[in-house]
Amino acid sequence: MIHFLNLKKLNQPFEAAFQKKMKQFLEGGWYILGNEVKQFESDFATYCGTKHCIGVGNGLDALVLILKGYIHLGKLQKGDEVIVPANTYIASIIAVLQTDLVPVLVEPRLETFNINPEAIEAKITAKTKAILPVHLYGQLCEMNVINEIAQKHNLLVVEDAAQAHGGKLEVGSQKLEKARAGNLSHAAGFSFYPGKNLGALGDAGAITTNDDALAEVLFSMRNYGSKVKYENEIIGFNSRLDELQAAFLSIKLKQLDSENEFRRSMAKRYLSEIKNDKIVMPSWDLSQNHVFHLFVIRTSNRIDLQNYLKENGIETMIHYPIPPHKQKALSNWNNLSFPITEKIHNEVLSIPLNSGLKASELQHIISTLNNY
Ligand SMILES: Cc1ncc(COP(=O)(O)O)c(C=O)c1O
Repeated sequence: MIHFLNLKKLNQPFEAAFQKKMKQFLEGGWYILGNEVKQFESDFATYCGTKHCIGVGNGLDALVLILKGYIHLGKLQKGDEVIVPANTYIASIIAVLQTDLVPVLVEPRLETFNINPEAIEAKITAKTKAILPVHLYGQLCEMNVINEIAQKHNLLVVEDAAQAHGGKLEVGSQKLEKARAGNLSHAAGFSFYPGKNLGALGDAGAITTNDDALAEVLFSMRNYGSKVKYENEIIGFNSRLDELQAAFLSIKLKQLDSENEFRRSMAKRYLSEIKNDKIVMPSWDLSQNHVFHLFVIRTSNRIDLQNYLKENGIETMIHYPIPPHKQKALSNWNNLSFPITEKIHNEVLSIPLNSGLKASELQHIISTLNNY
């Protein structure tokens, strides 16, 4: 069986370095907010090109803390509307709801799965204060257009970069410069959930920003609102990046660019070699704007294709089977209609793509799909 993801295999190349670090960690005896967190924050800020990185407990907390931070700074307030994609993992929407802000859902483009900037302006009201684009499956959103809309309407932009570590985009009107995910907005939330392109060995997350005032609040807010032990300036959270996870992440960060390059090379092969009228391939401009956290195809009879692949020894997954507005947890939205989002959720199927795949396995996946 070709597994969708084998984390043990993916982490094997790092095992010796992890064990060495673990030994140092046990000898050091410092477990919370120590040098490993500081080092990773510095490394990841440098990697993303931002002034600050704040390590937190997970990707959801990263988004919640950014929004809470802006509320604390008076840039957002309870009841303000935040534009979010209807087509996302529910965490992006939960973050908005948990901070007493109001999510306003916008349809995606069918080809890229990402929020359609052309549909954003129609949803802007006097209450809109922020846009929260999600770089879904690792493909960066059209940030130049989104940032222009935000500037025109004086809105904050917060990236959900949970799936897009390392993606690069040409920015500005001249498009001469490239910037990475996490440095394409006012602040960004990352998840280092184990299956991500940069994955920890447990829960972990981070915020990147160039906003000094926000960073100052967040360094305190993630730690009970305290910068000096037992002195609390604000009512904060306990959402600190774990010291040991930070140590593991610093080791893996060094390989992130080559990991992403490898993923792109596999994606290129899928895109050029899978030829089947029953399968719709994702759209990509071949630049570094996609890090292929997931390779997602569409088909009208998904269950049939999934079963066929399983019979041929290929495990697949669905990201995601139920759109957020149709979830039980959001029952007051269940009657809303977002046809493009719903079509995507009915048709998508994620096929294996990760650095643990052998060339023969990749070939088997391609020929099996072509023979469907
Ligand atoms: C798009 C998106 N946003 C946010 C999150 C939340 O991250 P975490 O699971 O680390 O809280 C995820 C997690 O998978 C995600 O995919």
